[in-house]
Amino acid sequence: MEQNQNSTRDFSLEYDSSSGKYDFIVNLFQMGRDRIHRTKALRFAGLKKGDTVLDLCCGSGLSFAAIQSIIGPTGKIIAVDANGKMLALAKTLAEKNKWSNMQFIQSDIEKLAFNEKIDFAFFALCWYDKTQNSAWLRKVSHLLDPETGILCFFDYKLPSNWLRYLVTPFIWVLVNWLGEAYGLEDLKWKPKEEIGSLLKDVNYTEYYFGVLFALSGKPKLS
Ligand SMILES: C[S@@+](CC[C@H](N)C(=O)[O-])C[C@H]1O[C@@H](n2cnc3c(N)ncnc32)[C@H](O)[C@@H]1O
Repeated sequence: MEQNQNSTRDFSLEYDSSSGKYDFIVNLFQMGRDRIHRTKALRFAGLKKGDTVLDLCCGSGLSFAAIQSIIGPTGKIIAVDANGKMLALAKTLAEKNKWSNMQFIQSDIEKLAFNEKIDFAFFALCWYDKTQNSAWLRKVSHLLDPETGILCFFDYKLPSNWLRYLVTPFIWVLVNWLGEAYGLEDLKWKPKEEIGSLLKDVNYTEYYFGVLFALSGKPKLS
């Protein structure tokens, strides 16, 4: 998405006030099918049993159940977020579900550092700004298994057909209610071109009336 603000904006700070209502609104927007939609994206990208997954900008942990249902107890999730309130919600969710195969890191993606090799990097609902996110992508690409590592993106867009006019008022209400870091204008983007151009072996699909997409690919390492 193209943001009007400059690329030094700290998007993580914008979830301090919305953390309490975040899960409710995300689910409302998807008519309760959020987990199903995430599972579809993960399967589309080729997530497998036993994989080690880096959940970038994990937020409150809405992707965890979908990831766990595929990787099982032999896999692992490394969940990263810069916002302490969102990460606290994610930890509580993991404790409630007794998921012991998880590690939590409070960090800006730009400053993320660890040695473990990752099979699958998941960016869900966190593509804010092409310049900033391209830097994240380069950073994360070096953490991936160089032979088999996969990057997967799951996010919103406006439908490209007439449905755009039908869903726009609904999306406007939700984005403003949540106080999201992006606006309606930002959703008029072309993720296949914008993200796809940064990766190789790209696969792309749209669903839920063309409002959600999943994109997967491998890093173009220079
Ligand atoms: C819209 S939420 C998405 C949360 C989750 N991935 C989901 O799909 O529900 C965006 C998350 O990105 C986090 N975030 C934004 N900028 C970040 C950064 N530079 N480093 C780490 N996390 C960041 C925010 O704190 C927030 O929790």
